[in-house]
Amino acid sequence: MGRVQDLLGCSHSIFGFGFGSSIDVAIAVSRSGGVGIWGCTRQTPDEIEAGVSRMKAELGDLPWGVDLVIPAGMPERDDRSAIESTLPPEHVEFVSSMRQRYGVPDDGLPGMRSRFVRSEETARDQLAVAMDHRIPVLALGVGSPTWAVEQAHDQGSLIVSLVGRPAHAETAIRAGADILVAQGTDSGGHTGPIGTFTLVPLVVEAAGGRPVLAAGGVATGRHIAAAMALGADGVWVGTAFLASVEAAPSPVLLEKLLAADATDTVVSRSVSGKTLRMLRSAWSDEWSAAGAPEPLKMPHQDILIGDLLGQVMRHDVAPLVHEGAGQGVVHLAGQQTVAEIMDGLVSEVEGVLADLDVDGSRAGRT
Ligand SMILES: Cc1cc2nc3c(=O)[nH]c(=O)nc-3n(C[C@H](O)[C@H](O)[C@H](O)COP(=O)(O)O)c2cc1C
Repeated sequence: MGRVQDLLGCSHSIFGFGFGSSIDVAIAVSRSGGVGIWGCTRQTPDEIEAGVSRMKAELGDLPWGVDLVIPAGMPERDDRSAIESTLPPEHVEFVSSMRQRYGVPDDGLPGMRSRFVRSEETARDQLAVAMDHRIPVLALGVGSPTWAVEQAHDQGSLIVSLVGRPAHAETAIRAGADILVAQGTDSGGHTGPIGTFTLVPLVVEAAGGRPVLAAGGVATGRHIAAAMALGADGVWVGTAFLASVEAAPSPVLLEKLLAADATDTVVSRSVSGKTLRMLRSAWSDEWSAAGAPEPLKMPHQDILIGDLLGQVMRHDVAPLVHEGAGQGVVHLAGQQTVAEIMDGLVSEVEGVLADLDVDGSRAGRT
C-alpha cells in the first residue's frame, strides 16, 4: 500500500487498516504497524472525547483514526420516547416473548444500541468532539455526508469512505472522500450484496486514481495478496481481530467465534434495521422464523431490541449471544494478540508474494 503508506506514514507497506469497535484493538493495530481505526459510533460524545484523547496520548505520531456511522434519514433529535411511542405492539410483544423464552434477566439497563438514539443531533455532537482534536483519519461507514467531510477536511483529517457499490463510491468522491474502502458482502457488520472479488476492481475503476482498500473476507495473507492483484492499495480488516486478546470477547462469544464455519454467518436486519452480517445464533434464527415480525427500520429496530440485546450480552445468555462477523471468521485460529495476528498476516503475505514470483515466471513473466 505504498500510496496509503506515504499519506499516513505506517510501517507495514502491505497491511493497511484494522477496524475495532474496541479501542484497545485499534490502538494495538497502530502500535503493530497498521492504521488502527476505532469504531466509536455507539459511544457518547464524552466517551469519544476520552477515547480520542487516549489514542492521541498513546499513539503519538503513529497513524490512527476514528470511524463514525452517519446514515441518511435519521431523526433530528435523540428522543427515545418519541421512537418508543411508534413501536408496533406486535414487535414489542415478540421481543418480550424472546426475553421470557430464553430467560434473559432484566437488569433495567439499556444496551449499546438503545443508550441513545442514532440521530442527526447525536452525529453532530459526536463529530464535534472528534473535531476538537486533530484526528489523522475520519472513516465514515454507511454514507459520507458532505457536512461531515467538510468539517474533517477543514481540520486536516483524511476521509476514508466505506462503500459497498460502485454508485456509493461515486457519491463518496463527490462528497470529498480521499480513500475508498471497497467493502464486499463477505464482511462483518453492515454490508451490501456485492462480493469482494467483484466489487474491488469496480471501485478501483470508479475511484479516479484515489487509493482503494479492499475489505470483506480479508483474513489471511493470501487475501492480502489477492487484494493487491485486484488493484487495491491496501486492506481494511475487522473480523480477523474479533477473537483477539484486546477485543476481549466473553467466553461464550469467544467459543462461538472460534467454532464458526464459513456458513455460520447470516445477513439480517434484526439488530440495527439495516442489513448486517453477524454470527448465526438463536437471535437471527428467531427473527427469520415463520411468523416473526419484519425487523423495523433504523433507528427503530435499535430501540426495539437494544435493551434486550444489551442484557443478552451482559449476562452471556448463550443461545442468543452473537456479534457482527464476516465470513472470514472461519479463518480464526485460537485467541492471539493483535500484534501476533498482524505479524502472521504480514509474514504470510510476504511468503505468498515470494511464491507467486516463482509461479509468475512459470506463467511467462521472465
Ligand atoms: C463487529 C463489527 C462491527 C462493525 N462496526 C462498524 C462500524 O461501526 N462502522 C463501520 O464503518 N464499519 C463497521 N464494521 C465493518 C468494518 O469496518 C469492516 O468494513 C469489516 O469488518 C471488513 O470486513 P471483515 O469483517 O471481513 O474483515 C464492523 C464490523 C464488525 C465485524
